Amino acid sequence: MTRRAVIRGVGHYLPERVVENAEFEKTLDTTDEWIKSRSGIERRHFAQDGDTTSSMATKAAEHALADAGLQISDIDAIVLATSTADLTFPSAATMVQHQLGMTHGFAFDIQAVCAGFIYALANANALVTSGQANRALVIGAETFSRIMDWSDRSTCVLFGDGAGALIIEAQEGNGTSADSGILATDLNSDGRYRELLYVDGGVSTGTTGYLRMQGNQVFRHAVAKLAATAHTSMERAGVTADEIDWIVPHQANIRIIQGTAKKMNLPMEKVIVTVQDHGNTSAASIPLALSVGKARGQIKPGDLLVTEAIGGGLAWGSVVMRW
Ligand code: ACO
Repeated sequence: MTRRAVIRGVGHYLPERVVENAEFEKTLDTTDEWIKSRSGIERRHFAQDGDTTSSMATKAAEHALADAGLQISDIDAIVLATSTADLTFPSAATMVQHQLGMTHGFAFDIQAVCAGFIYALANANALVTSGQANRALVIGAETFSRIMDWSDRSTCVLFGDGAGALIIEAQEGNGTSADSGILATDLNSDGRYRELLYVDGGVSTGTTGYLRMQGNQVFRHAVAKLAATAHTSMERAGVTADEIDWIVPHQANIRIIQGTAKKMNLPMEKVIVTVQDHGNTSAASIPLALSVGKARGQIKPGDLLVTEAIGGGLAWGSVVMRW
């Protein structure tokens, strides 16, 4: 028998304020047509005054708990992926722990920018399969609107805010690719590419800073690295592309999503796409897509999923799981 981390529940939260592409035409030299055709994004949600990364994460976690039919007392660990924690410290995860009324177990943040949820899920899987935790809340939550330079049309039209949460639980499996739950993970990073995507603030500058991105350079790395990591995870899981029911990609750009699916020899009918409605929500984008994919009736129990992401670092990775 093999100890597996199976999926028990999923949920998400999006702030109420929706901003259509046309809004940016009022303040920037841009068009709805440019944004849509270059990125696939049509609208995004932005946090309002009362919304923080931890408050949105808490709401997503509450929805995941309701979906699983569990109470917060049933959870031993919270792993929260974010690059936009409310404060430098304590972690957003411990704020969520408090907001959920959890006074046992442990909570911590993971920072791998847009690959954050993949890193969080891989780490939570290791905690559950090693016996350190029995049930973990794995959350991706971001307020990238607070690190946007609103005068930079090449970045501020691309990002959005939101949160998604997944609950994983220990269960015995047979150790085969027919098992439910997380079957394989693959993590990578390469710090040589720091200048391609970073925030120009932090404790060394005394400012929060703004996101800076050489989008076309990131694009150049994305498709090849995403297809390669997906291939590695599938090989580790012992599954082939024709067995995959859904690719659940990081939602940064429809052209990256299409290019990666093509490189994996899978049709777009097998891809969960939410980028048009959410924009790039960084670490929140994959759990948001999982939750929306389930709510739409696309992802069903027993489905085989591969999920992949790349972002600042560069950091990238993938997870293969059976829902
Ligand atoms: N409206 C109109 N024109 C624009 C806009 C805009 N909003 N933004 C840029 N342009 C212009 C540029 O100035 C440039 O003009 P020029 O040729 O006169 O210099 C032209 O459009 C082309 O710019 P590119 O950057 O080459 O455009 P590209 O086709 O590469 O699309 C995009 C840009 C959408 C950013 C794309 O490169 C992309 O999606 N990159 C990957 C982003 C990503 O995946 N990031 C990783 C995750 S994010 C994270 O980790 C936080």
